[in-house]
Amino acid sequence: MAAQIIDGKLIASEIREDLKKEVLELKASGITPGLGVILVGEDPASRSYVSAKEKACDNLGLYSENVKLPAETTEEELLALVDTMNNNSKIDGILVQLPLPKHIDTDRVIMRIIPEKDVDGFHPQSIGKMIMGKDTFLPCTPHGIIKLLLHSNVKVEGANVVVVGRSNIVGKPVANLLLSKSEGGNATVTVCHSRTKNIAEITRRADILIAAIGKPEFITADMIKDGAVVIDVGVNRVDDSTKKRGYRLVGDVEYKAALEKASKITPVPGGVGPMTITMLMYNTVNSAKNRK
Ligand code: GUN
Repeated sequence: MAAQIIDGKLIASEIREDLKKEVLELKASGITPGLGVILVGEDPASRSYVSAKEKACDNLGLYSENVKLPAETTEEELLALVDTMNNNSKIDGILVQLPLPKHIDTDRVIMRIIPEKDVDGFHPQSIGKMIMGKDTFLPCTPHGIIKLLLHSNVKVEGANVVVVGRSNIVGKPVANLLLSKSEGGNATVTVCHSRTKNIAEITRRADILIAAIGKPEFITADMIKDGAVVIDVGVNRVDDSTKKRGYRLVGDVEYKAALEKASKITPVPGGVGPMTITMLMYNTVNSAKNRK
């Protein structure tokens, strides 16, 4: 039987409706939540993410400052801009779009954002608090994945979850949230990566399979257990001359084949992506509440 498709767009729009009400209440008390977004360079995927974030701010009625800098920007110039946003009382959250050009030390930039405005949840203080189960900004894609599972009535507690990918942005934090003693947690978690032996043998044991490895259609049908829930985090551009823009987007999962094996699956686009932006808005609104 074909899998049920988890509609990330729909779930994201429901969460944004709730956020809209909170924004109105904040505005009534004189606070407009604000987000500062910094993009360095011309990477087309990053540009499109950043414009989606700008649009989401506009739709929710948030204040946003979007700064686009050339690829040659120096690390010191970028750090100075982060300092300016750190000190700007209209800005509750700061997001520096990654990846940054190679000559810039990404960790240094992430650590420069004050934890009170770290709506990406990438600062070591935020990561440390997340691992300890303390209240903090959670990274947006991992948090969005947990929300997708909860909204789709997937039982996470006690499930065997396999995460494929170990990035700081998705793999490591989502594994941690799934492991945590909280709603959407309490799973048994295995993390696979590029050096894992016999990956298929491990993924086939997953009740919930999370693909975040950044390789187009890496997860094939034979790697999925019958009835598994499949969450596809990948957004890969593959050349396609039949498309006007010359490429199409595919996930990390061979979607059509997986539809026949999974019980529930996220599409690409329209699955995890809209949730990432929504959780960024969620963090920004919550940061603004802390101003009070
Ligand atoms: N690049 C890819 N995903 C993300 C994200 O969630 N935040 C930032 N800042 N950059 C990214």
